[in-house]
Amino acid sequence: MAAAGSAVGLGNIWKFPYIAGENGGGAFLIVYLLCVLLFGMPLLMTEFLIGKKSGRSAYGAFRELGGDNRWQWLSWLSMLTAFLIMGFYFVVTGWCFNYLYEALLNTFHGMSVADLTAHFKQISANKPRMIAFGILPIILTASVLIFDVNKGIERLSKILMPLLLIMMFLMAGRVLMLDGSNVGMQFFFEMDFSKITPSVIMEAMGQCFFSLSIGMGALITYGAYMPNGQNVTATSIQVIVLDTLVAILAGIIIFPAVFAFGFDPAEGPELVFVVLPAIFEKMSFTWLSAVLFFGLLCIAAITSTISLMEVAVAFVCEASHGKLDRKRSVLIVASLTVILTIGCVFVPPMFDFNDNLTSCIMMPLGALGMALFVGWYLPRNGKEGVLSADKGIKHWAKKAYIQVLRWLVPAAILIIFLNSLGII
Ligand code: TRP
Repeated sequence: MAAAGSAVGLGNIWKFPYIAGENGGGAFLIVYLLCVLLFGMPLLMTEFLIGKKSGRSAYGAFRELGGDNRWQWLSWLSMLTAFLIMGFYFVVTGWCFNYLYEALLNTFHGMSVADLTAHFKQISANKPRMIAFGILPIILTASVLIFDVNKGIERLSKILMPLLLIMMFLMAGRVLMLDGSNVGMQFFFEMDFSKITPSVIMEAMGQCFFSLSIGMGALITYGAYMPNGQNVTATSIQVIVLDTLVAILAGIIIFPAVFAFGFDPAEGPELVFVVLPAIFEKMSFTWLSAVLFFGLLCIAAITSTISLMEVAVAFVCEASHGKLDRKRSVLIVASLTVILTIGCVFVPPMFDFNDNLTSCIMMPLGALGMALFVGWYLPRNGKEGVLSADKGIKHWAKKAYIQVLRWLVPAAILIIFLNSLGII
């Protein structure tokens, strides 16, 4: 459940619909689902197994298993990726908090489609306001990490995340009753293979890494905390199913509404923020629905930022060999994050740059490294493989897993890289 909380976040509800909208809807969905099967499953298992076998977070895990520092660059990559993601993730989390605040004040009532689009532009151009709303979740996340209330958050999200799911089902039901919603369903589910281009494949791969939180070592920490008897394969399947369900549900809410109300599916990062308030206007209990949904969205974002910031905090703590205690490490990481977030608010190209660089290059690179480490390096150097950490896994599944990790995953990542660079 904790790993699912880390995976389910703005990636599913904010990023998935807007990226799918920009990349042809149904064409994107099918490539995305293929990426989830091809990369998601083996890589999720790999991170859990590295953590479970080593009992360490990303910083110590590669040294512990490899026996030397040769693979330490993977933990540096993971820490850098966490910082870059946080830079733009907190800006979007800030938008969510801003929309929660405005939902409480009933600001959106009576706004037309054009008003809602103009409203987002106006709000996001207000830099001091965006910085204030971006710093608020940084402080919340840092407090959770300092006061060690992770357990409390976990318990809370076990109740609230199912509530988010119920809320999304209700919204999907309402949206599907709108006139013209079938056009949106067609857009999202019609497989037009002619729309699949190298850039669609690249975006889908990046979104798969981002949404499942893989390729940056965050889930290694979760593996380290898994009880001995836990079945890694089953856990991975559960996380993937839940994460994908939430993303598809978000698509079923957004696209029918986009076409029924006359928005543009390729609107960009503001897509869900302009469409959602228009949906609540059509729902009974408008004010309550909006407040409840944006409230739950903020909580879903915070459960993801907690695990993102934890990657950087664990790195700083362990890399300083205990010179910096946990509290100081949190303060250092949070301060750097504030600077990065301000940067992303003031320099919009930096927002896109961070997003693309992490999803399309750094996370696939991290994943490639981990696949080579587990698939080739460990067995070739006489080290015990990570699979012994999972007692439940069948013999044939072990064989298949290793082959997929050795050949399929590295080859697919390389081909997508070269293809999108125009080399092949
Ligand atoms: N998966 C998260 C989301 O969909 C975002 C994310 C990416 C993340 N990498 C992560 C969360 C690492 C936690 C840890 O919103």
